[in-house]
Formats: sequence, C-alpha cells, structure tokens
Amino acid sequence: MATALPDSALDQLFRTARTHSSWSLEPVGDEDLMAIYDLAKMGPTSANGQPLRVVFIRSPEAKEKLKTAIFPGNVDKTMSAPVTAIFGYDLEFHELFPETFPVYDMRANFVGKPEMVAEHAVRNGSLQAAYFMIAARALGFDVGGMSGFNREKIDELFFAGTAIKSNFLCNIGHGDGKALFPRLPRLAFDRTCRIL
Ligand SMILES: Cc1cc2nc3c(=O)[nH]c(=O)nc-3n(C[C@H](O)[C@H](O)[C@H](O)COP(=O)(O)O)c2cc1C
Repeated sequence: MATALPDSALDQLFRTARTHSSWSLEPVGDEDLMAIYDLAKMGPTSANGQPLRVVFIRSPEAKEKLKTAIFPGNVDKTMSAPVTAIFGYDLEFHELFPETFPVYDMRANFVGKPEMVAEHAVRNGSLQAAYFMIAARALGFDVGGMSGFNREKIDELFFAGTAIKSNFLCNIGHGDGKALFPRLPRLAFDRTCRIL
C-alpha cells in the first residue's frame, strides 16, 4: 500500500513551491526535459488519450520568435528562462486510440464529433500539462505558468499545418527567488468543496 510522501516532498511539490519569474543561469538540458516528461506521461487521462503536445523553446532564435506572441508583462521572465514549454493539445489525438487504447475501438466514439474531441483534448491536455509542472518540481526544477499570450499567433508560429492548438506556456528552470510576488491566499476547503 502506498504511504504519504514525507513533508519535505510535499513542501517541494506544493507548500513552499512558488511560481517563478527570475532564473539562475543553470541550463535545462534535453535529458532533464525527457526525465520530466517520463514522469508526467504516467499521469492518467481519459481512456489513456494523451492529447498533450509540447514544444520546448530554448534556442535564442526560437525565443525571439516566441517573444513576438507574448504579452509585454511576460517578456522578461520568458526571455531569461532556460526553457519555455508551449503546452498544446492535439485535436486529432483520437486517431492514436488504436495504439493508446488497443482494448476497445475508442476512436469510433470520437470520429465526426469535433465538440467532444475538443472537450476531451482541452481537459486531458490541461491535466497532462499540470502533471508536467508537478513532475518538474519533483525533479527539483521550478516552473512559471503563463496564459498571457496571443494564442492564434502562437498556433501560427509553432503549430501551422497541424491540428494542435496552444493551451498555455510554462517557463522551466531554477528560480533565483528574486522576483517572487507575495504569496496569494488560497480558498479554504469549505469554499471550494462539498462532501455529500
Ligand atoms: C496556467 C497559468 C497561467 C498563468 N498566466 C500568467 C501570466 O500570463 N502572467 C503571469 O505573470 N503569471 C501567470 N501565472 C502565474 C499565477 O498568477 C501564479 O501561478 C499564481 O498566482 C500562484 O502563484 P504561486 O505559485 O507563487 O503561489 C499563470 C499561472 C498558470 C498556472
């Protein structure tokens, strides 16, 4: 039976983890991104659909391209981050069901139903992006999510000719703690949850 993680792990994942926007110079390598993904990919999705698609922006050229599509308040933190992930979701994810859910013809349930495809793609793509952020923290990295960008432009620049749509961006690196906002209040259990 699983046991609770030690407090130090819970702190690193949640309690003391912060959204960072100022970064140390320590790079994030291909093997780091692969290690994070290898944890995140194990998180559950509906019918194992896995609609998440990610583009990692690391080179100066790619960063300059990205810069043209992000809101001014997000520029400095993004340009100085070792890596920025563009989390997207694939509106053709159901075409992979024969591989990802071979036990049943799940693809047939989705073909010709674009609204259902989109609902599942957004839901599960967002879940997978969240798993990725928590996996990054688990491996000792810091992250900073961003929705302040022009989605159409990002799609045009990085997903042209595909069925992939951008969802949100996430800087990844080692935060230096220099530009932290004061911690904002979280809603208490009884403001958010009901037990029936
Ligand atoms: C999906 C997502 C989008 C966000 N978009 C932005 C953004 O565009 N600009 C920004 O400065 N912060 C953005 N944030 C950061 C949040 O404001 C921050 O995570 C939240 O206030 C909690 O901060 P904390 O983790 O330090 O407690 C975003 C966070 C997430 C998860």
